[in-house]
Amino acid sequence: MADAPRKIAVLGSTGSIGTNALRVIAASGGALEVAAISAHSQLDLLVAQATEFAPRWVVATDSKAAEKFDWSKLPKGTELLIGCDELNRVVAQPEIDMVLAAIVGRAGLESTWAALENKKTVALANKESLVMAGSLVMQLARKQGAQILPVDSEHSAIFQALQAGQPTEVERIVLTASGGPFRQLNQNQLKQVTVAEALEHPVWDMGPKITVDSATMMNKALEIIEARWLFDVPSERIDVSIHPQSVVHSLVEFVDGSVIAQMSPPDMRLPIQHALYYPQRVAGVAERVDWGTSFSLEFSPPDPERYPALELGHQCAREGGTTGTVLNAANEAAVGAFLAGELHFTEIVPACRSVLQSHNFDSDPTLESLVELDRWAREEVSHWVFA
Ligand SMILES: NC(=O)c1ccc[n+]([C@@H]2O[C@H](COP(=O)([O-])OP(=O)(O)OC[C@H]3O[C@@H](n4cnc5c(N)ncnc54)[C@H](OP(=O)(O)O)[C@@H]3O)[C@@H](O)[C@H]2O)c1
Repeated sequence: MADAPRKIAVLGSTGSIGTNALRVIAASGGALEVAAISAHSQLDLLVAQATEFAPRWVVATDSKAAEKFDWSKLPKGTELLIGCDELNRVVAQPEIDMVLAAIVGRAGLESTWAALENKKTVALANKESLVMAGSLVMQLARKQGAQILPVDSEHSAIFQALQAGQPTEVERIVLTASGGPFRQLNQNQLKQVTVAEALEHPVWDMGPKITVDSATMMNKALEIIEARWLFDVPSERIDVSIHPQSVVHSLVEFVDGSVIAQMSPPDMRLPIQHALYYPQRVAGVAERVDWGTSFSLEFSPPDPERYPALELGHQCAREGGTTGTVLNAANEAAVGAFLAGELHFTEIVPACRSVLQSHNFDSDPTLESLVELDRWAREEVSHWVFA
């Protein structure tokens, strides 16, 4: 008899990760099933997704927008839930096997937390949950016996490479980075970068926040912190290598000098599929390496002066406590201000550094104090914004 389908709640189904995940599920031949989807602003797309996948629940997290929207086209049998608190209720439903956390930014923390509290397996794209509250989130997962499966391509690669040895045999983790669209620009040219230029990533097609994070290299800083908590590896054993082709998604070096890498063409459907099917591997829909053509792969160490965000990532991974929350909140606010035309591209990282330096460090915060600190850090960034 065929196994029962794995029922998945796709939180943030209208985003870049969410839509790719739905394509993976659509191609699964019934092995994976959409149990719930959620969106914030793209409600037409949410209804179209509900029509295609007939989930048991749809959640519209922006209450104001949802109340004005015409829901008459929602399929019968799909229950509409309005407001972000409903995410926490949906992920607690016994019939949901797995939660794909694909909401962007701090807004994804509570539903990730609720999923783990309810002992669900979490396929984690929302790296900000671990950046903000990595120690508490990992403690909760351990306490509840809930598994976190990485969706970020780098962390998926590390997760796979770690299976080649014991945790005590790991010498270092090397996160690869494409270097973003501005790898070749000098400081003067960087000052002139426009929003449209920052939103053009050379390799990956992603949501606006992570695309800007990739251009500043803050994305890699956040990934250093994510790796620190997810794999329990100290900051000094996490390195970054610039790899413009984005084919090797990250590497693990073991004590004997062996380096195990995971490689595949840059296509987010593969790490999403890896998490959704784990521990199984299936043929799937992702692009494959073409071994019939020649290609080269380059690696080089990042210049710390060119990419100052990396040091902030190492600092937060080293110090823990409240630092991740402050960096994450300051960065979200600064990126928001840049996208609104209120902050220069080159001021995003200095604004984050300044807020990080001026906060009252606490080595052992609670979730409530982190939420309060998140609010404070966002306000601090407003001092940097053009009048
Ligand atoms: N994109 C990638 O290739 C990639 C790779 C690795 C990791 N990630 C991580 O995956 C996460 C999602 O990234 P993305 O690129 O898919 O982002 P995205 O395209 O901007 O999509 C974000 C999703 O979150 C929803 N959302 C936005 N604000 C919300 C709020 N306040 N409350 C609830 N839902 C909200 C959006 O809904 P609406 O669209 O309806 O407004 C959308 O469904 C991020 O944490 C990112 O770092 C992404």
